[in-house]
Amino acid sequence: MRYQDIDWDTMWRESRAHKSWKKKKSSDWDQRAAGFAERNLDSPFVAQFLSRLQVEPEWSVLDVGCGPGTLAIPLARQVRRITALDYSAAMLDELGKRARQESLTNIRTIQGSWDDDWRKLSIARHDIAIASRSLSVDNLADALRKLNDWANKGVYLADRVGAGPFDPNLFAAIGRNFQPGPDYIFTVNILYALGIHAHVDFITLDQQRTYGSREEALQSYRWMVDNLTRAEEAQLTAYVDARLSQLDENTWQFARQTAPQWALIWWRKES
Ligand SMILES: C[S@@+](CC[C@H](N)C(=O)[O-])C[C@H]1O[C@@H](n2cnc3c(N)ncnc32)[C@H](O)[C@@H]1O
Repeated sequence: MRYQDIDWDTMWRESRAHKSWKKKKSSDWDQRAAGFAERNLDSPFVAQFLSRLQVEPEWSVLDVGCGPGTLAIPLARQVRRITALDYSAAMLDELGKRARQESLTNIRTIQGSWDDDWRKLSIARHDIAIASRSLSVDNLADALRKLNDWANKGVYLADRVGAGPFDPNLFAAIGRNFQPGPDYIFTVNILYALGIHAHVDFITLDQQRTYGSREEALQSYRWMVDNLTRAEEAQLTAYVDARLSQLDENTWQFARQTAPQWALIWWRKES
């Protein structure tokens, strides 16, 4: 078999068709926005991502699937301007709230999707394009091409490694088979087929994750499983309770058996 005979795009589609979780809609992200913002805005993920990016003050940055501004907010303190695109209105509200708290005036938020015509949304090319944990698209090659076209200097992506944010042990505990779907290695190979030779770094998060309440932890775990039955809900609750400890009135810590990992895939366009 020769490498060039491998059709990564078709393999990506097939792997995606068999994944254990359904693609989330903007309304799903709306519901999750406040809790996601709470947990992610000061996550160690941010410092690890930004340390690779090495920003320059005159840059403009396009952040696709920006969420509550996990990266857009700290980046806005360091660069000239940010365009933050997301299809969830509630995520953009969270971002707006934090930008106002910090008096940041250089972020333009746009409610829109990967699939929209970005020209119609008046999105121009930026120095840097980023898409962090937001590559939830039906056509990965098109999305990567689009991001590359919208960047003058470089592109930075955070993509799943294996199960990514999902906890495979939860699926085992409720008796479901877990298929994570395609991860970063498909992205790297699809980029190669597009003529883009990307760098890959890894971001490893803590096994411990903190929540503001037991219910928030449960909600975060329910999010991973589609169409939970009553029996599975009871198993999920038992699984979470067994690993959750209350540190103080507003802090609950969950201990995962494996640390979530993300791949930071990036390329620069200068010669
Ligand atoms: C896991 S969050 C990541 C947020 C942020 N980039 C981060 O790394 O913390 C995924 C975000 O992508 C957005 N998203 C998912 N699919 C999208 C699509 N097709 N178009 C635009 N935004 C999308 C969701 O609304 C959500 O805010």
